[in-house]
Amino acid sequence: MYKTKILKVKQKLIKENKIKKIKDTEAIKTAAEYILNNQLVAFPTETVYGLGANALESEAVNKIFVAKGRPADNPLIVHISNKRQLFKIVKQPISESAHKLIDTFWPGPLTLIFNKRERIPGLTTADLSTVAVRMPSHPVALALIGATELALAAPSANSSGFPSPTQAVHVYNDLNGKIPLIIDGGICNIGVESTVIEIKENKIDILRPGAVTKEMISEVLKDCSTINLVSESEENKPKSPGMKYKHYAPNTPLWIFNKAKLKSLLKDSKINNKNTAIVATTQTAVHLKNKDIKAELIDMGSKDNLAKIAYSLFSILRDLDLREFNLVLIEEVPSKGIGEAIMNRLKKAAIKII
Ligand code: TXA
Ligand code: MG
Repeated sequence: MYKTKILKVKQKLIKENKIKKIKDTEAIKTAAEYILNNQLVAFPTETVYGLGANALESEAVNKIFVAKGRPADNPLIVHISNKRQLFKIVKQPISESAHKLIDTFWPGPLTLIFNKRERIPGLTTADLSTVAVRMPSHPVALALIGATELALAAPSANSSGFPSPTQAVHVYNDLNGKIPLIIDGGICNIGVESTVIEIKENKIDILRPGAVTKEMISEVLKDCSTINLVSESEENKPKSPGMKYKHYAPNTPLWIFNKAKLKSLLKDSKINNKNTAIVATTQTAVHLKNKDIKAELIDMGSKDNLAKIAYSLFSILRDLDLREFNLVLIEEVPSKGIGEAIMNRLKKAAIKII
């Protein structure tokens, strides 16, 4: 058991992107020391909070799996703060397409799969011959990686299977006593995890959709023949081991609903009662306000602003879990742009789609 410490980095430094100054804060100096001593540190990224450890040290990486209760066959993403670090952990050559995507989207929410160098321990990559790498854009993440001069293995800093944390308090609620330190850098801007892709000659597989969308990738790789969003059902053997696990799921049963089905759902008093929460887009919530709704209504934002919905999604699911509803109904959003990532996470979290 640890006594979990939380150290804050000032929002002003984060907003102004003062990476050098952040590096000099007590929070980052302490965090870097922990990492160098093979301890874990939870830290903010632009997507979700990560649980970091020295990616090259099995002893440190093993602590991640223990703290999260993560299955050992689910590999970790390695986080770097400059391009030179990439060449130390992956095998050359790196494809032209990968270079183009890196130059466009790094630092940012895009993870690429490369052939790994031997020095990355098998534990980090679940014994795969590949390694997933990303350069986050959050100044606190960049400052921490820079201060340690190490590549950091960092999955989302939640208990395995639960919704990813987008605030320091979410990390605390899941991992209090299991990790020594959380760096609090406020709320993550994006709110869903990075896009994970694998490049194969002239073909791109999107293993996990995120804020870097299929449209954005095809804009950069105009001559790439196929960009394929890999869905789990198509695959007997998941390409990204994380695909096969139940994910993002709150304790309260979650159903996804389509607006067209809502009327009949609300006629059922076993559903339409005070023990149910309905999470709807603003468009649907407005429409429901004057109706006889016994369930609690929560507005998750306009379907015309899917980035805002992504931003608050995991937070809403976590807050509802603390309130002990019997059932949460959440509205489907359009699967376009970041809506693809939202629906991907919701489908993994839900037990029923109506
Ligand atoms: O935004 C993010 O990516 C966050 C922040 C902290 O950076 N991290 C994150 O890590 O979401 P995690 O461990 O929760 O998800 C990593 C995903 C898993 O689905 C895993 O299976 C996949 O990436 N992955 C990792 N290495 C892989 C590899 N070599 N081949 C295929 N998939 C891989
Ligand atoms: Mg995760």
